[in-house]
Amino acid sequence: MNDGNKIPVIGFGTYAPEYIPVSLSEEATEVAIEVGFRHIDGAHFYQNEKEVGRAIQKKIADGTVKREDLFYTGKLWPTYHSLELAELNVTQSLETLQLDYMDLFLIHRPLSLKAMEKCKDAGLVKSIGVSNFNRRQLEKILNKPGLKYKPGCNQIESHPYLNQSKMLEFCKAHDVLLVAYSALGSHRHKYWVDQSSPLLLEDLVLAEIGKKYNKTPANIAIRYQIQRGVVAITKSYNPDRIKENFKVFDFELTPEDMKTIDGINRDFLYVDIPLFAAHPEYPLHDEY
Ligand SMILES: NC(=O)c1ccc[n+]([C@@H]2O[C@H](COP(=O)([O-])OP(=O)(O)OC[C@H]3O[C@@H](n4cnc5c(N)ncnc54)[C@H](OP(=O)(O)O)[C@@H]3O)[C@@H](O)[C@H]2O)c1
Repeated sequence: MNDGNKIPVIGFGTYAPEYIPVSLSEEATEVAIEVGFRHIDGAHFYQNEKEVGRAIQKKIADGTVKREDLFYTGKLWPTYHSLELAELNVTQSLETLQLDYMDLFLIHRPLSLKAMEKCKDAGLVKSIGVSNFNRRQLEKILNKPGLKYKPGCNQIESHPYLNQSKMLEFCKAHDVLLVAYSALGSHRHKYWVDQSSPLLLEDLVLAEIGKKYNKTPANIAIRYQIQRGVVAITKSYNPDRIKENFKVFDFELTPEDMKTIDGINRDFLYVDIPLFAAHPEYPLHDEY
């Protein structure tokens, strides 16, 4: 990232909707660490930091990893945006997680960066970034007089049906890393995805390319992001699929494959939260 800190190119998403037992996030996080995930994407809002933290502590205690091998991302929820509350949000999350620091702390929904800078200065988080910011909002932050730390990344929805090429170009030009959430098209997510949406993981082009390398459409979707310089966050609570999703480091897509995948983009958004749509800073009204 632009502050010199390193971020693993593939992250394990810990969020699951409320109807899924929270205990599964603990088991899934353990499996994820066992199969090789070192980047864990969490948030206060996901209400499972206790379980995720327990899984992390177990894997540290049994010698699978050391704290410094792991990269934990947390997120500041909008109700905590004042200077004091932001610090409280991190310290509470750290306590729940049983960790001393977070590697990356993101503003979950577009608002102010000042409170985040304070958390970095206090040593509670190593890097700061933003999430769900559109170009205008990102530009506003980058041009802010007296900006102390540039956001290291912008975490937004991205996958082959929403490749965010314009945002990626903008981010690269400003040395801000793009982190893709729902990198598998939020597959069959019953909570926030319209069930008539096209299924990314059943895309014939991804399947065809996958056949060449003996890989699944999910592997191709993840590898695509890594090769274009994007960090991919994928969630699964199923041990076989967690393993499958990590098998993306033993093959390389050709420039033609990458172009073909660029060609299936349809600017399709799976994760829309209409609840926020009336807010003046709702990010999705702009083109990107
Ligand atoms: N910053 C934000 O505002 C924000 C918003 C949304 C998400 N996120 C982050 O991104 C993570 C992932 O988001 P997401 O859950 O929407 O998207 P996703 O990773 O694109 O999709 C997850 C869905 O795909 C299924 N799946 C996973 N691997 C699969 C495979 N190999 N084959 C077939 N199905 C597979 C999972 O089911 P099983 O569990 O049954 O495998 C789950 O239903 C979240 O956990 C969170 O950490 C951040």
